[in-house]
Amino acid sequence: MSYNKNKLMRFIIKGGYKLKGEVEIKGAKNNALKILAASLLFSNGLNIKNVPLIEDVFRLFDLLEIIGVKILKKGLNEFYLEIQKNIKNVLEKSIAERFRASIVLAGPLLARTGKVIFPFPGGCVIGKRPIDVFLDGWRALGAKIYDKGSFYEVRAKKLKGADYTFRTVSVTGTETLIMSAVLAEGETILRNVACEPEVVALVDFLNKAGAEIRGAGTPFLRIKGTNGRLLKALRGFEVIPDRIEAGSFLIIGALLGDPLIIKHCEPNHLSTFLLALKDAGVNLEIEKDKIKVIRPKKILSVDIKTREYPGFPTDLQAPFVVLMTQAFGQSLIFETVFDGRLNYIEDLNRMGTKIVMCDPHRILISGPTPLRGREVESPDLRAGLAFVIAALVAKGKSIINNIYQIDRGYEKIDERLRMLGAKIQRVD
Ligand code: EPU
Repeated sequence: MSYNKNKLMRFIIKGGYKLKGEVEIKGAKNNALKILAASLLFSNGLNIKNVPLIEDVFRLFDLLEIIGVKILKKGLNEFYLEIQKNIKNVLEKSIAERFRASIVLAGPLLARTGKVIFPFPGGCVIGKRPIDVFLDGWRALGAKIYDKGSFYEVRAKKLKGADYTFRTVSVTGTETLIMSAVLAEGETILRNVACEPEVVALVDFLNKAGAEIRGAGTPFLRIKGTNGRLLKALRGFEVIPDRIEAGSFLIIGALLGDPLIIKHCEPNHLSTFLLALKDAGVNLEIEKDKIKVIRPKKILSVDIKTREYPGFPTDLQAPFVVLMTQAFGQSLIFETVFDGRLNYIEDLNRMGTKIVMCDPHRILISGPTPLRGREVESPDLRAGLAFVIAALVAKGKSIINNIYQIDRGYEKIDERLRMLGAKIQRVD
């Protein structure tokens, strides 16, 4: 399954047009990937709604199908997953080593089969991305880790409950240990865990199916293991709305909205980000599950520091930088979560911005600066989307290459932007 058949596809964008209308936010990538992976903990099939049709989900489907999960499309964003009797516990190297999030399958596979083999997921353009806390956490639960050079083998006949403290707060690390401990023998206590809404949604999903996990949304979790009993899906589950996609469209609205209405979102998951937008002078009308955004006459500069939830999300740092290039004054952006997430700045400067790199984690933006259309390469998902936003604002034509990166996390972004009046084409 894929809609980016040719990985060399690109976007051609003619900038400078105001955007108007309503956009519906899709399911969260970073919740969908974990919910789909958690299907491996179930004894029966399950139905999952609001699954975004994005390349990362399609890659996870590829891996799940190889392992032995049948995937049936039931509706536009709805899938039924049927777990076969004999599940394989090896992650296909050619897919997994290029797809960082494949690591989410390792915890449930280990819990279900007692063994998992996976290639080292490697670093990526946004930073080193080690997996030391995963390995350390599995060891605490009684697993043995074998480093075989190009792949890891993790074994545990039976995982046993433990009291484990995370050295670093890690979203996928937390979710992996939850999915590992849920079928274990005895109780597991996890300390210094991630509090992201996607972690809470995963716990809700598992609890609805018979798991006993308490404390989601706090840095402390208590998991009562089922001692090998698989979970049972009683009814379907809906992936939560993507707060990063909502934030991205809000930034587009802040720059070009005439106005934009962002529907089917969860404003409560965006409080720190919404505060930064308000500080920037952006006009917002917030309701229960929708936000109207009107571009202000003057955007004001704001300093931000990315942090774990509920701090300012690192995944909205690059789009927010584009907003700040149009703000009056200087803004300091401090990226504290990843060590390589400001590497796109040079290309943005080629489009006319005035951004100085102070050190690998800090940049200083002077604005406002008019933007010019340019040809740029999408380095990763969020920086790629930031280039799309810059191109929508810029005068003239921009070409954005390597849009597979953008398709990894935004469902048909071009079609949805066109509906709002953007001049964007997808070409081979
Ligand atoms: N870290 C370690 N050791 C580990 C694991 C992480 O040192 O074993 C470090 C990382 O290097 C990083 C920090 O801990 O500096 C936080 O990383 P985290 O593990 O929380 O990130 P992740 O779980 O790999 C998820 C999202 C990312 C999002 C981050 C932070 C998924 C599939 N990915 O990554 O999403 O940026 O949390 O919120 O859930 C994206 O969607 O564009 C994206 C990159």
